[in-house]
Amino acid sequence: MPVKPKVFVSRIIPDAGLNLIKAQCDAEIWNDPLPPPYALLRQKVAVCEGLVALLTDKIDTTLMDAAPRLRVVSNYAVGFNNIDIPAATERGICVGNTPGVLTDATADMAFCLLIAAARRVVEGHQYTLAGKWKTWEPLGYLGQDLHGKTLGIVGMGRIGYALAKRGHGGWDMNVLYHDEIANAKAEADFGARRVDLPELLRESDFVSVHASLTDSSRGLFGAKQFALMKKTAVFINTARGPLVDQKALVAALKSGTIFAAGLDVTEPEPPDAADELLRLPNCVVAPHIASATFSTRNGMAEICADNLIAGVTGKPLRAWVNPAVGSQRRNNPGTSK
Ligand code: DGY
Repeated sequence: MPVKPKVFVSRIIPDAGLNLIKAQCDAEIWNDPLPPPYALLRQKVAVCEGLVALLTDKIDTTLMDAAPRLRVVSNYAVGFNNIDIPAATERGICVGNTPGVLTDATADMAFCLLIAAARRVVEGHQYTLAGKWKTWEPLGYLGQDLHGKTLGIVGMGRIGYALAKRGHGGWDMNVLYHDEIANAKAEADFGARRVDLPELLRESDFVSVHASLTDSSRGLFGAKQFALMKKTAVFINTARGPLVDQKALVAALKSGTIFAAGLDVTEPEPPDAADELLRLPNCVVAPHIASATFSTRNGMAEICADNLIAGVTGKPLRAWVNPAVGSQRRNNPGTSK
């Protein structure tokens, strides 16, 4: 019987993927609720051909250089800013991610945060729980309307498109977007108009971020950008925390520069318990759960397992971040010890 490839799985993922991995690989699974410390991960991966990583695992040159047999890093996420992709490609290591299956769940969460922040749902909930609700209040918890408003989407990829569909189809919203690449389908389907970022910020009632985190998008939203937004605007981020200068966001929320924010991502994650962000009545913060539905996480687990298995068996990955690895791709190193 051929020896199964040795792999490390850095957290328990749904059985839909884990069972596939266990059947095909000699898998060590980290079953702690917190991520493995970096030094330990590096030590574990040193003898592996495959790694299932999470967005909390930093996969850098030091780690890759300590893993001479490593053929594939299968990220359990669509985003892959935790991995040094050029370095992986240079070393012949394939990288996989989980696009597509989480598009609707993430767009739903962006819209959920949008409504929650615009209509002050969490503030109202806390008021009720605190026993402060005494009567129907003509001036209590007034928020922003959604219908017919302008939705500004920064990053019109799969998730941006799905959000535009919800806003345009459900709430008759006008859609503006900012992206390096034009999205002809969003323009045709929703009359979406591609504009530069300052125009989007000035014109939008709701601004939702769906950009990937790169060196050039880090800190994309700072004091200058918030100052351009309407006082009634609601800012939503379900992408990555470091896209936003969080101190500038806190200042904008405190000063009334913008109306409210809904965040599924922060920097760092989790935020420090003393962070002022967590004390603001006009900011809803969720613990990075946009893809957290049963079927979405199962779908992610299946793609992640397929990517891992393809990577350790020398096949094309189902969702391949760096197909450019091509002929440089590492070969089967032989029997795992
Ligand atoms: C991702 O996939 O990149 C999300 O942030 C977690 O689902």
